[in-house]
Amino acid sequence: MTRTDLADVPRPDARLHFGVFFQGVNHWTIWSDPASGSQIAPASFRRVAQTAERGLFDAFFLGDGLRLREVDGRIHELDVAGRPDSITQLSALAAVTDRIGLVSTSNTTFNEPGDLARRLSGLDLLSRGRAGWNVVTTDNAWTGANFRRGGFLDHADRYRRAEEFLTTARAIWDGWADGAVAGTADVRSWSVPGAVSRVRHSGAQFDLDLVPTLPRSAQGHPVIFQAGDSADGRAFAARHADVIFSAHGTEFDDALAFAEDIRRRLRAAGRPEDDLRILPGTEIIIGATEKEAEEKARWVRLEQVTPATALGIAGLLWGIDLSERDAEGPLPAEDPVVVENTGAFGARRIADPRAVVAEWRAKAEANGWSLRETVIELGPQRGHVGTPAGLAEKFIRFARHGAIDGFNISPYLIPDGLDDIVDLLVPELQERGAYRSAYTGTTLREHLGLREARRPQARES
Ligand SMILES: Cc1cc2nc3c(=O)[nH]c(=O)nc-3n(C[C@H](O)[C@H](O)[C@H](O)COP(=O)(O)O)c2cc1C
Repeated sequence: MTRTDLADVPRPDARLHFGVFFQGVNHWTIWSDPASGSQIAPASFRRVAQTAERGLFDAFFLGDGLRLREVDGRIHELDVAGRPDSITQLSALAAVTDRIGLVSTSNTTFNEPGDLARRLSGLDLLSRGRAGWNVVTTDNAWTGANFRRGGFLDHADRYRRAEEFLTTARAIWDGWADGAVAGTADVRSWSVPGAVSRVRHSGAQFDLDLVPTLPRSAQGHPVIFQAGDSADGRAFAARHADVIFSAHGTEFDDALAFAEDIRRRLRAAGRPEDDLRILPGTEIIIGATEKEAEEKARWVRLEQVTPATALGIAGLLWGIDLSERDAEGPLPAEDPVVVENTGAFGARRIADPRAVVAEWRAKAEANGWSLRETVIELGPQRGHVGTPAGLAEKFIRFARHGAIDGFNISPYLIPDGLDDIVDLLVPELQERGAYRSAYTGTTLREHLGLREARRPQARES
């Protein structure tokens, strides 16, 4: 990249925002390495959150997994297992951190607004204005089996419900006017008379009549994140979200195309383009030299794609149980079975695997790859690999061209996997003026540079 490149960009002053996505057990986080700590012990959460705070990150982020994924009746260990409830976990972290935002992914399909809005408000108050809510609609039928609802909503209805859910949650959060707590000894009531409104809502999804129990936080109410990549999901984000957690952050052209699509949708929704931040998920692998970084990335891939994992990933593609095959041998000779997601709860099988298998066969044959090697090379890829300076330049290019506003980073090792990002990458970004050198605010909304939440006024009493 030349200097002219950087001078001639739409956002010459862009600064990067980082979150850390603590994923919980899955094959991307190398739990089998001797350096790996517990994925569930409070000490691990604390260590990662405090490292991120030392690195001036905007947020510590957790996903939502209400049901263990299964394949043919067995736990699908390639994917997330062992995730404590996010609001519980983040409340504990609020006590051992001071500035970093705390973002809970909580779905709108199997929760109720009167309950979830209150729990998120609680986190926002306990953390003094650092809560975020990543709104997802979640996969349906298999999660629904946890509840009496089963697979009760199709995709479009899940987003209709999400829309009504969020509108209702906002009404609940706005139920207490700014300054609604008198809180002094010389007044007759703790809340200012007329400052707390009743919320009545009657819609297709929810019917409620409640008096919100909690006042507003230092940032008004939680910051709204969104994750969901369909047209409905993107439109929902453009109408409501402050931040999108996307899966478009590895290739520059893909990231830019996504960001431009979102900006088009923002304009259509009547919102200014700078009203929303885009933070793709990513993994970042750092080495002192390009060669060292590549060697480390190779080690990470081998640890992530163990023989058992390779057989699991290929098994999902083929629709066949391959667990007894030899991962270091050739690809299966059979044709893939096109399965209607039967028996694979939440473990996504590819709709038509034949084309993918044909491509894998051709490339494996041309390169002499084993099954495991093929999965490493052609299976799910993610992330960025490089030196601290090289990565800083690359990320600044992404941000200044408007392709991203930062990243939600998944460490490949818990709890130390964030250390070199904080110790080596962050200083390179700071030196180039593309990353904060201190927190300037105390709330998540301030870290992200978002406009203030609406301020409801007390009614005349
Ligand atoms: C980057 C990303 C992260 C997501 N994380 C979660 C999650 O932690 N829990 C969950 O239930 N769904 C998660 N989802 C899926 C959402 O539930 C999503 O709303 C669902 O797949 C349907 O939306 P879509 O068809 O718009 O993608 C995620 C989606 C994306 C793109």
